[in-house]
Amino acid sequence: MDALIKDLPGHIGDEVTVKGWLYNKRGHKKVLFLILRDGTGLLQAVAFKPSLSEEAWADAERLSQESSLIVTGTVQAVGEGHHAPGGVELAISSIEVVQVPEMEYPITPKDHGVDFLMRNRHLWLRSQRQWHLLRIRNEVIFALRKFFYDRDFLCFDSPILTGAIGESAGTLFEIDYFDLGKAYLAQTGQLYQEAAVMAHRNTFCFGPTFRAEKSKTRKHLTEFWMLEGEMAYCTHDESLQLQEDMVAYVVRWVLEHCADDLREVERDLAPLERAAEGGFPRIVYRDAVKLLQSKGSDTQWGEDLGAPDETILGNEFDRPVFVCCYPRQAKAFYMKRNPDDPETVLCADLIATEDHGEIIGGSAREDDLELLLERITEENLPLDSYEWYLDLRRYGTVPHAGFGIGLERFVKYICGLQHIREACCFPRMMEKLYP
Ligand code: 4AD
Ligand code: MG
Repeated sequence: MDALIKDLPGHIGDEVTVKGWLYNKRGHKKVLFLILRDGTGLLQAVAFKPSLSEEAWADAERLSQESSLIVTGTVQAVGEGHHAPGGVELAISSIEVVQVPEMEYPITPKDHGVDFLMRNRHLWLRSQRQWHLLRIRNEVIFALRKFFYDRDFLCFDSPILTGAIGESAGTLFEIDYFDLGKAYLAQTGQLYQEAAVMAHRNTFCFGPTFRAEKSKTRKHLTEFWMLEGEMAYCTHDESLQLQEDMVAYVVRWVLEHCADDLREVERDLAPLERAAEGGFPRIVYRDAVKLLQSKGSDTQWGEDLGAPDETILGNEFDRPVFVCCYPRQAKAFYMKRNPDDPETVLCADLIATEDHGEIIGGSAREDDLELLLERITEENLPLDSYEWYLDLRRYGTVPHAGFGIGLERFVKYICGLQHIREACCFPRMMEKLYP
């Protein structure tokens, strides 16, 4: 019977066939321990010379790392104190070799530099740590979608090729678009979500977004996935509450469903356990700047916060913190003027703990046609391309708000990664397009 490694604890005493790859091998004259992986887990399979045919033993001996093979044997429970993944091992009765690579597998169990591993990302994905990280990413995606579907949000896919600048003119990828001139790869799906909520009330989109980030940092990709929620008849405060609930929910989900993965990637769970409780502090930008200056930052009122500022804030609070109401000029054109402090806008960035920095950006949207026009002009954005967007203020405008969470930033934080490149399958950065 074919079986997956993850299911073997339920097959003790059975004869099963496992199809996989050789992850590692050790042994002596008469016994070989083959560590197999099959995509669902690791298994120790034991080849014992006296119980194998001569041919099968010869096959076991010639297998090298990442050979593909099909083994049949009996599942056995291992006693405590023995180290075997899943508490079971396989006593091999036969081996079918699919392929023994002609060349030595490049990623050996010894340490490799990150540049080397990144050049071999297509193979690096098979390594245990990378396998665990991408399983956590998978659960994060699932939990995010579930959170929104459970709340009756409609999934509304925004276009990737866009005519209007979504965030800022500085980081656009431009494409020649037939007779229509330039198209841009979407920096955000937000503007389209704003149209969607006037039809469907609450919507989200979840897809790739693109920014021509010319800086090399540990937090910036040129292609990343963003989940964006948008809500009609929603206040800034209600939006913050939803964001907090979302982050706490997903963190709780991962703590519950990925305990093994988190342990294997050596994540300190304490910050996650606190985040899972919610109760994220909220401070206004004006106070944040004073706090940062008192800690030695030279950030001045009016400027966006830099990475070192985010690190200070991330260490100052024991769970993610919302920094609200930034100065108008530091933020995008669509953010709603703050009626209580008109130099600022009703927005918030969620800054994660440790040094993970901003994971969410969101705001109430400017729903007043005149004020929105003023901002588009002030930012020198091409008015023509926003005609459709302005219609949303002309025909039944309502208060609305939304936010975007960067998937790889969120995964970086949840997994406690040094660098965002491990939070996605094939990271795209300024100097990285291959593989
Ligand atoms: O703060 P941002 O630019 O906000 C928006 O795009 C809004 N339109 C979202 C909305 O309100 N619907 O980006 C949102 C998030 C950031 O907080 C960050 O997590 C992530 O997207 N992000 C990046 N992640 C990786 N690499 C980059 N270059 C990123 N730029 C933004
Ligand atoms: Mg932002």
